[in-house]
Amino acid sequence: MANTVVVGAMWGDESKGKLIDFLAHDKDVVVRWGGGSNAGHTVVVPNAEGGEDEYKLHLVPSGILHPNTLCVVADGVVLDPASFVGELTALKARGVTCENLKVSGNVHIVLPYHVLLDELEEKRKGKRALGTTGRGIGPAYQDKAARVGIRMREFVDPTLFAERLAEVLEFKNELLTKIYGVQPLSAEKILAELLPHAEALRPYVDDTALRVAYAARSGKKVLFEGAQATLLDIDLGTYPYVTSSHPSAGGACIGTGLGPTQIDQIIAVTKSYTTRVGAGAFPTEQNNALGDLIRERGAEYGTTTGRPRRCGWLDGVALRYSALVNGLTDLYLGHLDVLTGFEEVKMAVAYRLNGEEIVDFPSDQGRLCRCEPIYKTFAGWPEDVSEIREYAKLPENAQKYVEAVEEYVGVPITTLSVGRRRDQTIFREG
Ligand code: IMO
Ligand code: MG
Repeated sequence: MANTVVVGAMWGDESKGKLIDFLAHDKDVVVRWGGGSNAGHTVVVPNAEGGEDEYKLHLVPSGILHPNTLCVVADGVVLDPASFVGELTALKARGVTCENLKVSGNVHIVLPYHVLLDELEEKRKGKRALGTTGRGIGPAYQDKAARVGIRMREFVDPTLFAERLAEVLEFKNELLTKIYGVQPLSAEKILAELLPHAEALRPYVDDTALRVAYAARSGKKVLFEGAQATLLDIDLGTYPYVTSSHPSAGGACIGTGLGPTQIDQIIAVTKSYTTRVGAGAFPTEQNNALGDLIRERGAEYGTTTGRPRRCGWLDGVALRYSALVNGLTDLYLGHLDVLTGFEEVKMAVAYRLNGEEIVDFPSDQGRLCRCEPIYKTFAGWPEDVSEIREYAKLPENAQKYVEAVEEYVGVPITTLSVGRRRDQTIFREG
């Protein structure tokens, strides 16, 4: 397949980083298309000493560990300069070359007032707070849509940046002091803090949309790295408990330089169970000892915020919705090893809403929070599966579960993951 999109199937944290890293060795270009440092992608790779190295990435595409792959941060991303430069510095210190990295001049910069406003808006919402990652994502996208955002090309021009900052900060400070009653921010301080980062970022700035379009036209293969996930999409997700961008497959084309006709494959990554961080309805949540057990076995704590993730059974209804709205060609079922040892394993196959049984996912919070899952129950398997590499060698009950998910969702599960490392992967085809 030439051009492949990888999306999160559910509410994020599906271990997309592992698949991206895996697919990247066969691709020429890896493009991150949206979100910001709210994402946390962990990649575990074997090292020269026979051990393993773990990389936690937030903004830098997970393809960065492949030195010959062009890594692109495309227009749809909102970029926190300190966070990005910090990641680059840490990668370089570990010997990773970042020479093949390009950042679109059109990405919007996350500034200190975005981070502050994220916190203040959450506080103001009180009980209705979203549980954001606190990285300034919502406020940065608000400014983008309001057409007052500061983009990378302005940011790396010291004169222009100072001008734009003064203009925007005047209004932000009115908001901070008069509405939120907090201290205003100082433009001088922001400039002093950020100008060194602008300096460090300047060499990476590029017209990435054109670069990607020309690369694809000359036969290069492009991999689109999704951050967040389908149910966090601002339109298709569980609004208002969503992020402010378009993490579903359609978002991949926006600002990257390729049109929908150039996408050949769309893979969604899901776990063998479901997790969610932050607030919002989660019908299959197990807010009990079972959920705690899944959390401990699956190490379900946020890469970005360290928050314990809410855990529950696989929500087939949500997954089927995700398959439909993303136009999936493939499903990647991860964390199968975590389900070892459960006497029985469940998947929601319908919801009960107002006394009626439904199979179509209601993506709005109003209806979703009243849905009761109806489960199909499967016999569990006691065998450790983490060293299995062939599908046929999986315990029979595990195979039955996998095939039931596949049949219910209507999309082939072409890859499975049985552990964090690159090699702990099972391919069902080829
Ligand atoms: P990756 O790429 C899981 C969630 C937050 C919150 C909501 C809004 O690691 O899968 P935001 O800070 O974006 O305004 O928060 O979205 N959220 C994620 N949850 N994984 C992520 O990214 C997420 N990015 C945002 O927890 O509920
Ligand atoms: Mg995450």
